[in-house]
Amino acid sequence: MHNPHAGQSPVTVIGLGLMGQALAGTFLGNGHPTTVWNRSAEKADELVARGATLAASVRDAVEASPLVIVCVSDYAAAHGLLAPLGDALAGRVLVNLTSGTSEQARESAEWAAGEGVTYLDGAIMAIPPVIGTADAFLLYSGPQDAYDAHEPTLKALGAGTTYLGADHGLASLYDVALLGIMWGTLNSFLHGAALVGTAKVDATVFAPFANRWIEAVTGFVSAYAGQIDEGAYPALDATIDTHVATMDHLIHESESGGVNTELPRLVKALADRAVAEGRGGDGYAAMIEQFRRPSA
Ligand SMILES: NC(=O)c1ccc[n+]([C@@H]2O[C@H](COP(=O)([O-])OP(=O)(O)OC[C@H]3O[C@@H](n4cnc5c(N)ncnc54)[C@H](OP(=O)(O)O)[C@@H]3O)[C@@H](O)[C@H]2O)c1
Repeated sequence: MHNPHAGQSPVTVIGLGLMGQALAGTFLGNGHPTTVWNRSAEKADELVARGATLAASVRDAVEASPLVIVCVSDYAAAHGLLAPLGDALAGRVLVNLTSGTSEQARESAEWAAGEGVTYLDGAIMAIPPVIGTADAFLLYSGPQDAYDAHEPTLKALGAGTTYLGADHGLASLYDVALLGIMWGTLNSFLHGAALVGTAKVDATVFAPFANRWIEAVTGFVSAYAGQIDEGAYPALDATIDTHVATMDHLIHESESGGVNTELPRLVKALADRAVAEGRGGDGYAAMIEQFRRPSA
C-alpha cells in the first residue's frame, strides 16, 4: 500500500512543554521519525506511546537527526542544554523556536558559528492547538539555504511558515512587534468590555462589534504602512486633531463610569505630543514619529 509519509526526514525536538509537545506531535503525525528529550522525562510518555523515540540524553537526541529543534522557556535554558555538547551539533541544522529578543538570537548565531553549527532562529505565532494547521504561522531567519533545505519539514508545523531573511534577529524582532499588537488589541478590547459593562452589556454581546471594528482597523494598517514608508502622512480620512477630540470622550466616559483611565490617557498623551509638534493636521500615521524615538 502507498505510504504518503515514506521517506520523511528525521527530526529531534528538545523541550516538551506545552509547545514542544505540540511540535513533536505534529512531526509524528506527518510521519517524521521523531526523537524527543525533555528535562522532566515523563512529559514524553504520550509522544512515545505514539511512536516517538525518547533519547536518554540531550547529546543522544541531537545525534539522532540532521534537524534539531529546541523549544524551551528561554535562551538561557536553551544555551544551558546545548553549550556543553561540544561538536555533537556540528554539521546539523539547529532551529531555536524559543522566544527571546533579536539580540539573544544574534548572540546564539555567533555561538553557533563558532561551533560549526548551522543555525536558524524562529518564532511561533500560534498557540499549541493551532500548530500543524493552516492558521499557524512560524517565522524563520538565518541562512536561506538551510531554511530551503528543511522547509518541507518545517512547513508541517504551520502552512503560514515564512522565511524573513539572513539576519538571525529578524524572527525575534517580528515576534515581539507582533506580540505588542496582540497586547495592544487585547487591552483595548478589555477596556472596551469594562466600559460597555457599565451599561450592563455582556462582553459576549460586545465581542462581535469589537471583531468587526478590528477588521476595519486592518484596512487602516495597510493604508498607513505606505504613508510610513514614504514619510508623508496626508489626512485622507481624519486628522490627528479630530482623533484627539474623540480620545477625550473615551477618557471622560471611562472616568464617569468608574473605569480605569490609564490606557486612554497614555494614548492621548502621545497624540497631544504630536499635536504640540505641529502634526495636528496630519493623518494618524504621523504618530510613527512618536514611536521611532526613545521614550522621554
Ligand atoms: N505556549 C504558547 O502558546 C507559545 C506560543 C509561542 C511561543 N511559545 C514559546 O515556546 C517556548 C516554550 O513555551 P511552552 O509554552 O512550551 O512553555 P512550558 O510549557 O512552560 O515549557 C517550558 C519547557 O522548557 C523546559 N525548560 C525550562 N527551563 C529549563 C532548563 N533550565 N533546562 C532544561 N529545560 C528547561 C521545560 O522543561 P520541564 O518540562 O522539565 O520543566 C519545558 O520543556 C517559550 O519560549 C514560549 O515563549 C509558546
